Amino acid sequence: MRLNRLVGKWAGAGKRRTREMFESRKVIVNGQVCEDGKTLIGRFDQVEVDNLVVQNEVPRYVMLHKPQGIVSATTDPEYRTVIDLIGEEWAGKLHLAGRLDRFTSGLVILTNDSGYSESLTAPSKKVGKRYLVEVDGEIGTEVVSTFKEGMWFAKEKVTTAPAVIKLLGKNKCRLTIFEGKHHQIKRMFAKFSFKVTKLHREAVGDLELPDELKEGQWAEFVPVR
Ligand code: URA
Repeated sequence: MRLNRLVGKWAGAGKRRTREMFESRKVIVNGQVCEDGKTLIGRFDQVEVDNLVVQNEVPRYVMLHKPQGIVSATTDPEYRTVIDLIGEEWAGKLHLAGRLDRFTSGLVILTNDSGYSESLTAPSKKVGKRYLVEVDGEIGTEVVSTFKEGMWFAKEKVTTAPAVIKLLGKNKCRLTIFEGKHHQIKRMFAKFSFKVTKLHREAVGDLELPDELKEGQWAEFVPVR
């Protein structure tokens, strides 16, 4: 957004009075006087006019180890949410960069930076989400080859991107998928009449759930872009 628009709106001022605020060097952006009202500013630039704060939002990036039973939502009438787990006054401004089912545990990313969350969730970005999966039967070669090829999801009318699968035992695997369709992994296994008995997200793109982050705990991080 242009700075003069933000300042004018904040002050309830017309074009002329807004211009005067710039001319009299009253507008400060990130600690520096700014005389050019046409300057483009982002949501996280700090803006002051006449020592009053116009905009001062801190970007937040949170990794959370979601336990089973917690809902990936900002509010819920019945269950505790990931926001309840954070419990800070700024937590209400966060949104989720991809959800996990209530049944699923593991890494959830929350932020107030929509540009960042889109970089993780936009289908075009094809960010991998890695899970540990256990099912109620033996995972055979047909499952492995179908997952690697991609699967037809009739509801969305799409074929899923080829997944990466590594067997860890008869009924256990490490699975990376590149979309975030509703209940995707459960639905992938359900096509072979398997029920997922354990689902845990270990990583989203380059972000790994740190070992030291125990269930229910969270930590802020600085994203690498
Ligand atoms: N697939 C699922 O079925 N559930 C999740 O929470 C994530 C992926």
